[in-house]
Order: sequence, then structure tokens, then C-alpha cells
Amino acid sequence: MNVALTYNVRPEAEVSTEILPSNEIVSPKLKSTSKTQEKINDVYAEWDTFETIDAVRSALAAYNDVIMIEADENAFEKFKEYRPDIVFNIAEGIFGASREAQIPAMLDMLNIPYTGSDPLTLATCLDKARTKEILTYHKIRTAKFLTASDKNDLKNFDLKFPVIIKPVAEGSSKGIFNNSFIEYFADLEKAVENNYETYNQPSLIEEFLSGREFTVAIVGNDEDINVLPIVEINLDTLPGNLVPIYSYEAKWIVDRRENPLNIFTCPAIIDKELENKIKETALKTFKVLKCKDWSRIDIRLDAMGEPNIIEINPLPGILPDPKDNSCFPKAARAYGWDYTQMLNNVLYVSAKRYKLI
Ligand SMILES: Nc1ncnc2c1ncn2[C@@H]1O[C@H](COP(=O)(O)OP(=O)(O)OP(=O)(O)O)[C@@H](O)[C@H]1O
Ligand SMILES: [Mg+2]
Repeated sequence: MNVALTYNVRPEAEVSTEILPSNEIVSPKLKSTSKTQEKINDVYAEWDTFETIDAVRSALAAYNDVIMIEADENAFEKFKEYRPDIVFNIAEGIFGASREAQIPAMLDMLNIPYTGSDPLTLATCLDKARTKEILTYHKIRTAKFLTASDKNDLKNFDLKFPVIIKPVAEGSSKGIFNNSFIEYFADLEKAVENNYETYNQPSLIEEFLSGREFTVAIVGNDEDINVLPIVEINLDTLPGNLVPIYSYEAKWIVDRRENPLNIFTCPAIIDKELENKIKETALKTFKVLKCKDWSRIDIRLDAMGEPNIIEINPLPGILPDPKDNSCFPKAARAYGWDYTQMLNNVLYVSAKRYKLI
């Protein structure tokens, strides 16, 4: 097939990996004082590196003719000109709450098939609060929550501490730092205001799920669906000064290629009953959110040991080097798929959905 790979590339120099005291860590988005230069820059945390994009290109090129179309404002004209058979979409988007949905919306307009979920699902899953509202309607467990842009929105606060606070519409642990775990109301008020200033969006505040954490990768559609082996996030391997969350510090700073943490176990070591419960919850979530072709679903157990949905990643992270800890490729390897097979399977289920093959 003629495949166009569409992507956003992360500017290499912009990624900070310095270790700082947790109370100093903020994202400097929209700020440019010399003070904030010292803090962690997580602005581009969601975007892929050139290494990842090139690895995806090379995997797809094993069986297809591949052209590259950067997901910028010239993309529409390029799709129109080249008219690929299908687009492999890993673009996270640049601006706005619908940023992940923009390329798929363009492609829908041009009637060009693409891998992954449609604009409705992508925009919904990027908004973690809206996603949780839908899950609640469908009686899928998710931590009790509220959203807040400033202190006034905390007037009717009735959640149990500890809570976790995060920007409502980000991924790759953007805005989720060690100090996002909050035990006191005064800290919460400060964090809400800080987050609004930094990320220019409301915060999602959730009751803290204290149990084990898992993530489930899914590839396929309808009856033809593969739930890959469950990955456990071993939060107890984090250094003692970090709280048990898979935070920005945990993902991008403490866990380095030259000194990797043993942060994942795949397949997770759990009994059959829990395995089934987790897989059923993930699959139901995939279906309720109308995910297409692939997604990764983050789950954590509550104090009663019941799986709760944290969030859904319809554009999952896919670092190519097995030395980098990346859940989706890890689960795929445990399933018997190398990186090339994993990506070509996603392409295959997508092409099948569009009846191209
Ligand atoms: N309600 C919660 N209770 C306990 N821990 C939580 C909760 N919400 C988030 N976490 C912790 O914070 C981490 C990051 O949260 P979340 O998955 O929402 O962020 P993300 O940036 O979208 O992640 P990703 O990198 O998967 O895109 C989770 O993996 C989990 O460890
Ligand atoms: Mg997550």
C-alpha cells in the first residue's frame, strides 16, 4: 500500500531531563523568565522524537511504500496532492483542545483512510474529565473527581485526601509531577492556580487510587481484537523520595536508557480472576469510547482491589528501543510481535476496517 506517515517531531533541544527538588518543578510553558529556565520543560513531552518517527517509517516500509507528511498547516494540501491509500497517524497535534483530532478530521474531509480513532474519540480521550463522565455513565469504575480553574471552583470540594491533580487535557505525564500528589487543602488551592497559570486549562482533581497500576494495549476492532499481555507499572521501584505515581520525573528523568528502572513487568504477575477483570474493563472501555485499531488503557486498583480507569491513550507512546521503557511495544513483544509486526498489525486492522484488503 501507499502509506503516508503523519507525525509531529519534538525539537530535541527543548527536552529537559534535569533532576530538581519536587517543589520547584513546574512547566515553563508561556513563561520565559530566567528563573523558569531552570525548571523542567515538559512542553513537548507528548511529541515523538525523530528516532521514534524514523523507526515507525522504517517498520511500515518493510511492507509498504511510505511517504512522510509532517502534521503542520501544510499537511492538508499534501494529503490532497499525494492521496495515499491510507495514513498512519501518530500526530499529537499542535494547538487547541482538539489538537489530536485535527489530522483525522482533515482526512475524513478528504475521504482518505487513516489508522486509529476518529476525531470524536481523540478529542474526548484528550479531555480526561469528559472521558470520566462517559465512563461513569457506562458504570465503568473511575476515581471520583472534579475540575477546577481557580480557588472558587473548590467551594463544594468533597473528595477524600490524598488527591492527584493534573491538567485536564495533556498526556505523557505533562503536568504530573511528584507534587501533584496532594494531602492538604491549602496545597490544593495553590496547585490549582499554579496549574492554570502554567497550562492555561482547568485541573482535574481525582481521589487517589492506592492500589497496583496496570496498562493494557489493545489492537483490533469488533470481534477481531487482541488484548495484549497486561503490563504492571512497578511503582515500588521508584526512588524513595518519589510518591507512587508514574509521574514526569518517573517517566523521563529517573528512568534513563543508560540507567533504566525495572519499572514494568509484562505479563503482569496476577491471578486469573484479576487478569480477566482488568482485560474486561479495558475492552469495555475501548468499546464505550469507540476506539479504533489500537489504544492503551491505563488502570489502577482502588483500595478494594477493583480496577479503575485512569485514562485512555488512543495514540499510545511507541518508543522503538526495547531499552527504553515503553508500555505498548513491551506488551507487543510479550505477545510475540516485534516493533515491525506491531505497527504493521495496526495498519492491517485499519486497512481491514476500511475494506482496503
Ligand atoms: N486517580 C489516580 N490515583 C492514583 N494514581 C493516579 C491517578 N491518576 C493518575 N495517577 C498516576 O499518575 C500517572 C499519570 O497519570 P495519567 O495517566 O492521567 O497521565 P498521562 O500524562 O496522560 O499519562 P500517559 O503518559 O500515559 O499519557 C498514572 O500513570 C498514575 O501512576
Ligand atoms: Mg497515562
